[in-house]
Amino acid sequence: MASETILVVDDSAGTREVLRRNLTDRGYQVLTAPGVAEAVEILEAADINLVLTDMRMPEASGLDLVRHIRENIKDLEVVIITGFPDFNDAVRAIKTGADEYLIKPFTDNELFEVVEKALGKRRLQERMAEDDGVAAPYGILGQSPEMRRLYRQVAKAAATSATVLIQGESGTGKELVARSIHYQSRRASAPFVPVNCGSVPEQLLESELFGYVRGAFTGAATTRAGFFQTADTGTILLDEISEASPAMQVKLLRVLQDKEVCMLGSSRPVRVDVRILAVSNRDLQALASKGAFREDLFFRLNVITIPIPPLRERGDDILLLIRHFAGKAARELNIDTPRVSDAALKVLMGYHWPGNVRELENVVQRLVYMAEGDIVDVPDLPQLMRFSALRAPNLNRTLAEVEADHIRRVLAHVAGNKSEAARILGISRKTIREKLKGLDPEAGP
Ligand SMILES: Nc1ncnc2c1ncn2[C@@H]1O[C@H](COP(=O)(O)OP(=O)(O)OP(=O)(O)O)[C@@H](O)[C@H]1O
Ligand SMILES: [Mg+2]
Repeated sequence: MASETILVVDDSAGTREVLRRNLTDRGYQVLTAPGVAEAVEILEAADINLVLTDMRMPEASGLDLVRHIRENIKDLEVVIITGFPDFNDAVRAIKTGADEYLIKPFTDNELFEVVEKALGKRRLQERMAEDDGVAAPYGILGQSPEMRRLYRQVAKAAATSATVLIQGESGTGKELVARSIHYQSRRASAPFVPVNCGSVPEQLLESELFGYVRGAFTGAATTRAGFFQTADTGTILLDEISEASPAMQVKLLRVLQDKEVCMLGSSRPVRVDVRILAVSNRDLQALASKGAFREDLFFRLNVITIPIPPLRERGDDILLLIRHFAGKAARELNIDTPRVSDAALKVLMGYHWPGNVRELENVVQRLVYMAEGDIVDVPDLPQLMRFSALRAPNLNRTLAEVEADHIRRVLAHVAGNKSEAARILGISRKTIREKLKGLDPEAGP
């Protein structure tokens, strides 16, 4: 971290010198001024993070300096120093806008404590200001050029009612983007209905999507509207669209073409006005050209395509997200946000994040939960990130753990592409999921 600069203002050369030496020893940059006029000059020329000023000085007082700073410079912390008999001066200074006061005589520790408190407040404010500037609507964070491009695409898509295909690796924020499109669109006040086409058995998916009339099948005791009807005038999100069965694909194609749905057990189609967002973490075009996905459905879905960049291509966004998730976890625990050492940040920045933002959130959350001091360092990071290959083999592990570790490494090697990993490992995608389940909270579903 770049060291912070403190301006010491005191008419006594001896006091200036003592303060300068103490603060410099602590790693701060220190500038000094013998009076308010000189201090004002320095403030105009240099980038100062904190002003430490004596109250009583022959020409202008510390209070004048506080006033000048509050009127001319917004975010600058000021600590005022007074003698014990002038305690009321300190109170007045705080009322005028000083942030902290120190009563003479004070110990070195009292000095450092007050200085750190004031600087800590400033750092926090800076952080808030940064976060403010980058938050895209609906909780999407990031300010990298890649993310800015994404925000523009989201805004454009939101202005239309066209079908959108959102593609990206697992955990990149596809659902977040879909929600953002819906809530920025004219349909925002109508329902947003997400449906997972991969995790629901085909029969159930069909009745959930299209609804059914009484007696359509055993157990259909009443007539029930499907998601498409529920989402009328709103938006439906077809998640994991690549996993929809061929029969389901035909049915979806029909909805897209005719804008009507047929409830199970009924022959009377119902008109629906639903905007469709489809999500996939597999390359749908490639699947379509291989014949693994209906080409006509792909073309219908692919009116607008929004690719979401993987986390490792978002540069410094990783830092911003670490800060965000660390702050969030710390707030939940009601503790101060631990600092992440530069060395640890370097490791985190260099990791390939196959599970993208979801993996990052899980890792950071766990680091905060497990943090023992107020700093997170390299040894606290998950083993996987710390060049596990260089370490002595750990003989105290079950086969299942070793297996999961190997699967994770292969997944990392292929940048999280489960199909590719499945090919290398000689098992199915489903088996990968099952083998990682319960063993690895980072791997995502
Ligand atoms: N840019 C971002 N800023 C803040 N949080 C994010 C961002 N991207 C993703 N997240 C968070 O990461 C998690 C995963 O996001 P989401 O569920 O949208 O990803 P996904 O691409 O749909 O994942 P999957 O492929 O597993 O379905 C969520 O908790 C989400 O809030
Ligand atoms: Mg998702």
